[in-house]
Amino acid sequence: MQKRHMMALTAACLMGLGLTTAQAQDDTFKVGLLLPMTGPFASTGKQLEAGARLYLAQNGSTVAGKKIELILRDDTSTPDVTKRLAQELVVNQKVNVLAGFGLTPLAFATAPVATQSKTPMVVMAAATSSITQASPYIVRSSFTVPQVVTALADWAYKNNIKKVVSLVTDYGPGVDSEKFFKDTFIANGGVVVETLRVPLRNPDFAPFLQKVRDAKPDALFAFVPAGVGTALMKQFTERGLDKAGIKVIAEGSVTDDDILNDMGEVALGLVTAHHYSAAHNSPQNKKFVEAFAKANNGMRPNFMAVGAYDGMRVIVEALKATQGKGDGDALLAAMKGQIFESPRGSMYIDAQTRDVVHNIYIRKVERKNGQLYNTEIETIKDVKDPGKAR
Ligand code: PHB
Repeated sequence: MQKRHMMALTAACLMGLGLTTAQAQDDTFKVGLLLPMTGPFASTGKQLEAGARLYLAQNGSTVAGKKIELILRDDTSTPDVTKRLAQELVVNQKVNVLAGFGLTPLAFATAPVATQSKTPMVVMAAATSSITQASPYIVRSSFTVPQVVTALADWAYKNNIKKVVSLVTDYGPGVDSEKFFKDTFIANGGVVVETLRVPLRNPDFAPFLQKVRDAKPDALFAFVPAGVGTALMKQFTERGLDKAGIKVIAEGSVTDDDILNDMGEVALGLVTAHHYSAAHNSPQNKKFVEAFAKANNGMRPNFMAVGAYDGMRVIVEALKATQGKGDGDALLAAMKGQIFESPRGSMYIDAQTRDVVHNIYIRKVERKNGQLYNTEIETIKDVKDPGKAR
């Protein structure tokens, strides 16, 4: 092969892999924000975008002499699209950081782009334990599902729930929910009589709920991703499971603050575990909820908004610490080990695992001033991802 051809081919290959390390050269610092803005998970994208923008609005968007520019792309919650957009953002826009990732498969699809281009990738939403192991450039500001469901399994057994049916969405975080809930609950002495998985796309809960009813458990344990809980709970009541005396305990995405008020009566008393509630009682959270509502037509922030707000904090502080240089490895190093006060409570990014460590709360849905809230009733402090210990 001619030398000229070889060189052209090598350059093409490098581009194809996103191997260029050239980051934004001018006075801007670019964050590529990949979010599902349309399609079934648009509510997740809307919350994440609003959280990221609020952090910048409150903390100044020029840092260490660089203007921070958010470049938002709608990935329609399709993994191939997220990956292609990430490549395009790295190669053409020369973004310094990739961020967002509303669902687990979108984060996994993009991980190789982060690794090959040495671009830090801040996962602000997706919650499957193993995501941080998919690339050494991933840092997570959201949460992990095992952190949450192990706390819930402990609470349930202590509170007289001994026999459970598990119902989860059939993909990464659902599989993690099922496994970690079940293992912990069984270790405590409980029984999981059935494990059911519903499809991610267009789920019809009815046939699964019929099985739950037939199994007559003390409680249904459920995980569905943010935005889907209303459909689950509506069908739960329509099938009469509440009247049959079956309780619901759930991963906190089910009573997501964005949709909780639409759920109505059926949600009252529902117990969940999670890392964030809009009702979290701290001065910092009160300010956050108020500012968020003011900037977004009265919208209530959910845990997605907080994941993005805190993720922007991690990015901005890394930019400050590296004095605006924007180099991927230096930024990554400055993200590891950050410790700070979030609207969710205190948190840090574990320097070894690059994963989030924070409090997990047991909450109960209550009505306050005519609105439904996840009221925190117990706190488990500084929870690391149990998935990493195995
Ligand atoms: C995920 O895909 O990891 C995910 C999405 C939404 C949630 C929780 C986990 O509410």
